[in-house]
Amino acid sequence: MTEAEPSRARRLKAASHGVHEGLDNAIMAAKPFSSRETYVEFLRIQQLFHRDIAALYEAPELTALFPDLAERRRYDQVRADLADLGADPADETARPRFVAGQALDLPTALGWLYVAEGSNLGAAFLIKAAAALGLSDEFGARHLAASPEGRANQWRSFTAVLDAPEMTDDEEARVMDGASAAFTRVRGLVDAGFGQGGAADAA
Ligand code: HEM
Repeated sequence: MTEAEPSRARRLKAASHGVHEGLDNAIMAAKPFSSRETYVEFLRIQQLFHRDIAALYEAPELTALFPDLAERRRYDQVRADLADLGADPADETARPRFVAGQALDLPTALGWLYVAEGSNLGAAFLIKAAAALGLSDEFGARHLAASPEGRANQWRSFTAVLDAPEMTDDEEARVMDGASAAFTRVRGLVDAGFGQGGAADAA
């Protein structure tokens, strides 16, 4: 990579701009913040996505790169949000995308993590919408909370590490593919999950 090329994070953002917009529109079209019932459907989508990647937050290949990775995990907060609202979680019998203790492809995993960590930027808007339902980072919308150091700082420290490793063209392509697969996964959950009583896990 030459100096003039944009960072990996910027390239990921540019490559996923269209799918992010489509996802954002699909979620908002389902009006997840119009009632606690539809919000619970959104929570089940988040549950299954964060469950898919929960193992990444303790994978030694990744914790070696991101020292604060364990604190970034939001799966437990999503489950707590469901419990706050007295809602049943989505069925978890399907195998998650990443399984603890199994070897992982680091570039692919970085692509998935980019999507999960980036979604915490958009969460700034979502938690404001959730407030209208009486929800907050202490009840029902815990997984949308900002970290103590603030979303922008948390994102900067994440992308600094994401951008650092030297990669071959093939590895770069696997990062992009990982991000693309993560967005596809969330989009699949959104398309299956609203208006049908909760996220149907078709994995
Ligand atoms: C209705 C739902 C959503 C809205 C309104 C939304 C909104 C936003 C906004 C405004 C940003 C930019 C924040 C900033 O630059 O300061 C952002 C970033 C991002 N969002 Fe979303 N988002 C939504 C859902 C999601 C979901 C479900 C995912 C993936 C699971 C996602 C992934 C990302 C990523 C990866 C970024 C970082 C982009 C970058 O700067 O590289 N978003 N979102």
